[in-house]
Amino acid sequence: MPTIEENLGMWSHYDWSQSGDEWSQCWGETTELWWGTIFPRIKDFVPAPTILEIAPGYGRFTDYLRFLCNQLIVVDLTPSCIEACRQRFSESRNIQFFNNDGKSLEMIEDQSIDFVFSFDSLVHVESDVLEAYLQQLSHKLKPNGIGFFHHSNIGEYVNPETGETEFLNVHWRAKTVTSQDFFDICKNAGLQCISQELVNWSWEHLSDCFSVFTPQGSKWIRPNTVVRNDQFMQEAARLVNLNKLYGLPGHKLNPEKLFRREQRLRRELQKSREELDVLRNRITAMETSKFWKLRKMWFYFKQSLKLIK
Ligand SMILES: C[S@@+](CC[C@H](N)C(=O)[O-])C[C@H]1O[C@@H](n2cnc3c(N)ncnc32)[C@H](O)[C@@H]1O
Repeated sequence: MPTIEENLGMWSHYDWSQSGDEWSQCWGETTELWWGTIFPRIKDFVPAPTILEIAPGYGRFTDYLRFLCNQLIVVDLTPSCIEACRQRFSESRNIQFFNNDGKSLEMIEDQSIDFVFSFDSLVHVESDVLEAYLQQLSHKLKPNGIGFFHHSNIGEYVNPETGETEFLNVHWRAKTVTSQDFFDICKNAGLQCISQELVNWSWEHLSDCFSVFTPQGSKWIRPNTVVRNDQFMQEAARLVNLNKLYGLPGHKLNPEKLFRREQRLRRELQKSREELDVLRNRITAMETSKFWKLRKMWFYFKQSLKLIK
């Protein structure tokens, strides 16, 4: 049972030399995982003015989320992870970094979050932690805010008599959580699950779940759709094959480059706007000048003498 203390111990002592990219291996690289698997599932929720990422680790997905919002808030239990994110994204002025106690979101203003995201982290937290986060999120999310959480479903495979799974829980999934528990926790917190996809993770068991949730009363409310997807790892394999066929060595879709280009275009647009303002002021000054008035009068005079049409 991964407790908050066990998570803190595990991630404080983990070898982060690859920044978590090693967990993207089944997809080939993190860029395939993001654009091929995660992005198609969250595309309708971004860009969003304010995004909250819970448990970013060393920023494997923060690197993409930061370009999809005006403001990104990241919260993680492990101080060294937050410090690593702070260093890695020191040039991004739209990120706020918080180290928390594994449950609290008190640093976040009520009704300020448009989209809350967590991937490959909350699979290791038990239902008490999910309950705490979801209770607070019902206040932190805007009325039409939305959330995407990757969490455990291994509870479905736990034998109630032994409290253990019949297979070895090698991926350290939280045993007190099922997709139905998550649905119920949302409901009790004033949130509503609108879709849940149960997936296998390097094994045949549907040990994981992606849940999308929104505040009750939000415009996104609809009956929950639950899908049992045992082809999830084939999706990863397909992305690896596609990359073999179409990928160019060393090429990466570079959000940083796109972001810089956007910034440059914004600066050019701003400059053009300022030049336009100067020209407008000049025209106004001209139109209100004595010379302009005389010129206009001369024009009307000529028109009335029918010298011009
Ligand atoms: C397996 S790492 C994944 C990090 C990142 N999401 C990624 O995929 O690269 C798990 C992360 O979850 C964080 N974490 C674990 N329990 C947490 C909790 N209760 N609240 C916030 N962060 C937590 C850890 O500190 C660690 O950064």
